[in-house]
Amino acid sequence: MTERKMLTTSNRGLLEDSFPFRLYQKAKRLGTWNPADIDFSQDAHDWKKLNTDQQEDILRLISQFQAGEEAVTLDLLPLIMAIAKEGRLEEEMFLTTFLYEEAKHTEFFRLVLNAIGEKGDLSHFHTDTYKKIFYELLPTTMERLVTDQSPAAIAEASVVYNMFVEGVLAETGYYSFYQALENARIMPGLLEGIGHLKKDESRHIGYGTFLLQRLICEHPHLFDYVAAKMTELTPLALRLNEEGIAGREVSAFGGDPALVMEFTLRQLSVRMDILARAKGKKIEEIYRFSDSELGVL
Ligand code: MN
Ligand code: FE2
Repeated sequence: MTERKMLTTSNRGLLEDSFPFRLYQKAKRLGTWNPADIDFSQDAHDWKKLNTDQQEDILRLISQFQAGEEAVTLDLLPLIMAIAKEGRLEEEMFLTTFLYEEAKHTEFFRLVLNAIGEKGDLSHFHTDTYKKIFYELLPTTMERLVTDQSPAAIAEASVVYNMFVEGVLAETGYYSFYQALENARIMPGLLEGIGHLKKDESRHIGYGTFLLQRLICEHPHLFDYVAAKMTELTPLALRLNEEGIAGREVSAFGGDPALVMEFTLRQLSVRMDILARAKGKKIEEIYRFSDSELGVL
């Protein structure tokens, strides 16, 4: 084992101006909301007044988010380990907030389900494509980092976790929640939590964008690898939407499912556009990106 080199007692100190450290500061300021403090009494009241189709639409979304948050909470650790092994202290400091926030998201959706009295098994909402992503692809891609911490393996993990699951699927889910609940002016507790989640996730996706840009800068051939991975994942996002829509032309809340599909497609291209900005940049420039340049709210 090579002798460990301490950073914070060296003249390097902490890279306080670096993107990951600034993100860590932001997480400490904004990531402090407590799911247990949210009042769901109006939600419980609203829930009883919804018709069966409307309840079904909301439950499908919640059950996919609930299991999705559980999965990302359980699957993140190997990435944190890989980053720590490389001694990337500021990145790991941010990642401590990342995992804590995913735990709170998992808690949040369970509190919603408890408040509306849904105690039954919801796994029938997990369609084939949903299972392919959250029961297989995500855990195997993340677990690979336990034995393989190559730049390509880390890039693949970040594409699947940050760009695809968070940056495309979760973002589409928020869009669907707002489409259903905001117009109907119901379930304020659920919407309040979704507002927090969206901000937390913007930091997670921002970190993933930074990580991929750093990897692409250090190993330029990875850009094509990342782009190919995104292309490979695209049909899964489209199929997941189609399975949710199930041939309907209008959702139970009167929303247009075609708009959800458009949103997903836009997210897929936005993620690649932002990554492409790293092309030809120097590593110092990547560390200096501002929050807004990487889409952090
Ligand atoms: Mn989350
Ligand atoms: Fe996240």
